[in-house]
Amino acid sequence: MTKYIFANWKENRNLPETQTELTKLGELLSGRDLSQRQLVLLPPVVFLISVSEQIARSSLPFGLGVQDISTYEEGSFTGEVSARMVKDFASFSLVGHSERRRLFVETAEVVNGKVALCLKFGLTPVICVRSREDLEAIDWNLDAGKLFVAFEDPQLIGGEEVEDLIKIIEFSKLVQSLTPAEVRFIYGGGVSPRTARPLLSSPEIDGLLVGHHSLKAESLAEIILP
Ligand code: PGA
Repeated sequence: MTKYIFANWKENRNLPETQTELTKLGELLSGRDLSQRQLVLLPPVVFLISVSEQIARSSLPFGLGVQDISTYEEGSFTGEVSARMVKDFASFSLVGHSERRRLFVETAEVVNGKVALCLKFGLTPVICVRSREDLEAIDWNLDAGKLFVAFEDPQLIGGEEVEDLIKIIEFSKLVQSLTPAEVRFIYGGGVSPRTARPLLSSPEIDGLLVGHHSLKAESLAEIILP
C-alpha cells in the first residue's frame, strides 16, 4: 500500500536554501525503491514555481502542494493567494492546520469554505483536525473524488514524541466511520526518523504529515525510505 509523506516546510528557509536541500534530497533518494511511497512537498507558496521547475528538471518523483489557500476565490483581497492561482503547480493543499486555526483564527466555517474551493479548482484537500469536534464540524456532504484527513495534537507539534499508536488507530477508525469512502488518513505531530517506522507499518495509517524533521534532506529521506 502506498504511504503518503507530506513535508510541511512552514515558514522556513530562503530560496537558495530550499533549492540546496531539494537537490540533496533528490541525490539521497536517487535509485532507491519508492514504489510504496509518495512524497508531497509543501513549500512556502512563494517558492512553489521554483520547486515545481526543479522537480521537473531533475525528474524527481515528488508531488507538490501548498500549506494554505485563500478563503476567497478572487478579487480585492490584498496578500491572498487563491486555489485557482496555485492549481497549475500544486495538486494538494493543507486546510485548517492547527497553527492556522490558533494563530489566524480559522473557524470551522472558514475551513469548510477552503475545502470547497480546493475541490472546485481540483486541489486535493488535506484537512487537518485536532479532535473529534473538528472532525464533526467538517461538512462531509462533499463531492470529493479524493481527500485526506490529517490528525494532529497541537501539543505534540514541534516535539519529538508522537501520539499513542492505539489512540491514532482509534481516530483513524472514527474518520473512516464519519467520512466518505475515499478518505485517506494521515498522522502528524512529532514525526521523526525514530517515530515514523511504527506509524508507517500500521495498515490504518495511510501516511504522515512531517514538519521540522522534513527540513533536513537526510532526516526526510530516512523517514521516507522503507
Ligand atoms: P512537526 O509538525 O512534525 O514539527 O511536529 C507537524 C505539523 O505541524 O504539520
